[in-house]
Amino acid sequence: MGFVLSNSGANLQKIFVVSVCATFILSSIAQLLPEYEVQVLQRIFSGLQFNYRVNISRSSCVEASAGLNRTFVADRIYSSVVCNCSFINNTTVSVCHVTSIQMQRLNLAGTLPLEFANLSHLQEIDLSRNYLNGSIPSAFGQLPLVKLALRGNRISGTIPAEIGDITTLKELVLEDNLLQGNLPTNLGSLINLERLLLTANNFNGTIPVTFGNLRNLTDFRVDGNKISGQIPDFIGNWTNIRRL
Ligand SMILES: *[C@@H]1O[C@H](CO)[C@@H](O)[C@H](O)[C@H]1NC(C)=O
Ligand SMILES: *[C@@H]1O[C@H](CO)[C@@H](O)[C@H](O)[C@H]1NC(C)=O
Ligand SMILES: *[C@@H]1O[C@H](CO)[C@@H](O)[C@H](O)[C@H]1NC(C)=O
Ligand SMILES: *[C@@H]1O[C@H](CO)[C@@H](O)[C@H](O)[C@H]1NC(C)=O
Ligand SMILES: *[C@@H]1O[C@H](CO)[C@@H](O)[C@H](O)[C@H]1NC(C)=O
Ligand SMILES: *[C@@H]1O[C@H](CO)[C@@H](O)[C@H](O)[C@H]1NC(C)=O
Ligand SMILES: *[C@@H]1O[C@H](CO)[C@@H](O)[C@H](O)[C@H]1NC(C)=O
Ligand SMILES: *[C@@H]1O[C@H](CO)[C@@H](O)[C@H](O)[C@H]1NC(C)=O
Ligand SMILES: *[C@@H]1O[C@H](CO)[C@@H](O)[C@H](O)[C@H]1NC(C)=O
Ligand SMILES: *[C@@H]1O[C@H](CO)[C@@H](O)[C@H](O)[C@H]1NC(C)=O
Repeated sequence: MGFVLSNSGANLQKIFVVSVCATFILSSIAQLLPEYEVQVLQRIFSGLQFNYRVNISRSSCVEASAGLNRTFVADRIYSSVVCNCSFINNTTVSVCHVTSIQMQRLNLAGTLPLEFANLSHLQEIDLSRNYLNGSIPSAFGQLPLVKLALRGNRISGTIPAEIGDITTLKELVLEDNLLQGNLPTNLGSLINLERLLLTANNFNGTIPVTFGNLRNLTDFRVDGNKISGQIPDFIGNWTNIRRL
């Protein structure tokens, strides 16, 4: 820095121009998705039976024409794919990763795609109000999810115990599906969970005692199931609860 300041104003200007150009070149070659994530996204979109043209390529994160973000008819019917392009590749070039996929009320059908589990930076999946069937893949347990919302679909089977491994999870919204069986005790490991909405499925058994660990819960709903037993004592530990 001392060297630059001791130079003439003209030189200083040159240095400034050069560094602006370098920044510009760096950001124009960056902002790309890895080819692997392009392929995974293509499989997800075809698996979801999304009936609108999407052009997924390595530059889809920055090109509005890719068709990844759309609002149809009303605000509540939309598709949104969000990337974070601030990850640094080991060559100091920044790269993009898909961090959020939300597609609500789009008449999506078929089986919930397993390929979501291949998007290793995915923090948000919201496919609420569609016609998706199949079960929740246990491989979702390896994702760094903050939100998993599948409200109002035809998802069946049990909640995989592996969902309890997603300790980043704040929202687990599975209302209005065909899920069944016992609530996994492992869900008690989701210590950051704020919303656990399980209404209108076929869950049975009792509420696991481990749920007493879910101290950050603000919303818990489990009505419209075949859950038996009494309201457990541990809800006294849910000091943040607003809605039960
Ligand atoms: C990251 O860097 C490697 C080389 O180290 C390169 O092959 C790869 O394409 C880069 N990824 C992205 C998304 O730019
Ligand atoms: C997704 O991951 C699974 C297992 O980790 C792998 O077998 C599969 O090939 C991957 N899918 C794609 C599209 O790469
Ligand atoms: C899609 O929308 C998100 C915000 O919801 C935005 O961050 C992103 O840049 C948009 N992508 C494109 C390709 O327009
Ligand atoms: C996909 O790309 C083609 C040609 O580049 C373009 O005509 C078309 O409008 C794009 N589709 C969407 C959904 O943006
Ligand atoms: C994007 O990723 C970078 C690198 O991991 C992180 O520092 C940053 O907080 C992320 N941005 C957002 C909006 O999540
Ligand atoms: C870094 O990039 C090189 C290619 O330039 C690749 O062989 C290596 O696997 C990369 N390492 C990591 C940790 O991504
Ligand atoms: C899921 O729905 C598709 C049609 O959308 C159907 O072909 C398939 O049999 C269904 N699978 C299950 C397990 O219900
Ligand atoms: C809960 O439902 C499953 C299948 O839906 C059944 O196998 C199991 O016996 C039921 N358990 C209880 C305690 O009702
Ligand atoms: C719970 O919420 C508080 C306040 O929002 C936050 O600081 C904390 O990290 C959350 N998680 C746990 C496990 O307490
Ligand atoms: C509630 O929290 C207290 C204090 O941490 C603990 O001793 C007690 O076992 C908890 N109760 C239940 C039912 O989890």
